[in-house]
Amino acid sequence: MSEKIVINEVGLRDGLQIQPKFVPTAGKLELCHALIDAGVRAFEATSFVSPKAVPQMADAAEVWAGLPLDKGVDYSALVLNEKGYERARDAGAKVFAVALASTETMNQRNINMGLEQATKSFAGIIARAKKEGFKTRAYVSTALGCPYEGEVSVKVVLDLAEKMMAAGADRLAIADTIGAGNPKLCETIIKAVVKEHGAERLGVHFHDTRAMAMTMSWISLQEGVREFDSSIGGLGGCPFAPGARGNVATEDLAFMFNDSGYETGIDVAKLRRAVMVAERLTGLKLGGRITDWWVSQERKAAAKAAIAAE
Ligand code: COA
Ligand code: ZN
Repeated sequence: MSEKIVINEVGLRDGLQIQPKFVPTAGKLELCHALIDAGVRAFEATSFVSPKAVPQMADAAEVWAGLPLDKGVDYSALVLNEKGYERARDAGAKVFAVALASTETMNQRNINMGLEQATKSFAGIIARAKKEGFKTRAYVSTALGCPYEGEVSVKVVLDLAEKMMAAGADRLAIADTIGAGNPKLCETIIKAVVKEHGAERLGVHFHDTRAMAMTMSWISLQEGVREFDSSIGGLGGCPFAPGARGNVATEDLAFMFNDSGYETGIDVAKLRRAVMVAERLTGLKLGGRITDWWVSQERKAAAKAAIAAE
């Protein structure tokens, strides 16, 4: 099993979409550059959704136009309907993420479609993207619990995953959109999905509402998953999923994997600057569990440097 791990930074989309203070396009790109400087090589860069529904993503095309394309970075765009797909494609996107929620109510609230209609609509977008020569990544979201309907059965998750794969999705991502999961449930779902579809094309997307995301990430790793979504500083939440906290923090996840001997390609010390950029842009106090330790390391290094300079 590979020791290489892809950390897919979703802060620019999932992290920012709920922020009431509009972050100008230049700020979003500054954050992207800071993350690239630290070694991040995969991003869900923005979403092409209704600016009325999510004003923070109104500049999706401008963000896309400004993404650095010369650094070997993979970018995906979240699209939730045909119009979003066309806007993203016209902006230059080549990988499209779709998000099929696991319940009737969540799809209604999120995209104004029922489960059946949403399943058909996303299958159509996946098939169209394939025909037009592009790649797709299908989220089965609220897979570990729905804010409106509660528990979601593993059977439903498997059924929706199967439909997205049958439509031609290149990758699948299991999302705990509101952070409702726990390690046992996570193990059950990931095992079941891996049994059906293998781990090579599988990613996970965990929110840290109840401090379970790191443990669930580790459990997913044990099941063979090598692609993990996270958000710098733990930024985020979901406007259509009450109670959702941010994604697991990129710095915590990268540190856990690096320290355990896996290769993320990320220099965790350099992520500090990205957290600071995100704090300045949002006016929020951010940072994962690693922050206090980070600060103590910096103080130690500064004290050492001061002694050496004497
Ligand atoms: N991008 C920009 N505008 C869009 C759009 C898109 N992808 N899809 C629809 N619109 C516009 C339409 O042009 C129309 O505009 P108008 O009122 O000026 O004529 C309006 O939105 C309504 O269009 P309609 O097709 O009826 O969409 P809807 O009201 O059913 O909304 C979504 C569907 C998906 C666009 C909307 O629910 C949405 O953007 N939700 C955001 C969900 C989200 O981002 N969740 C978090 C991540 S999972
Ligand atoms: Zn999310």
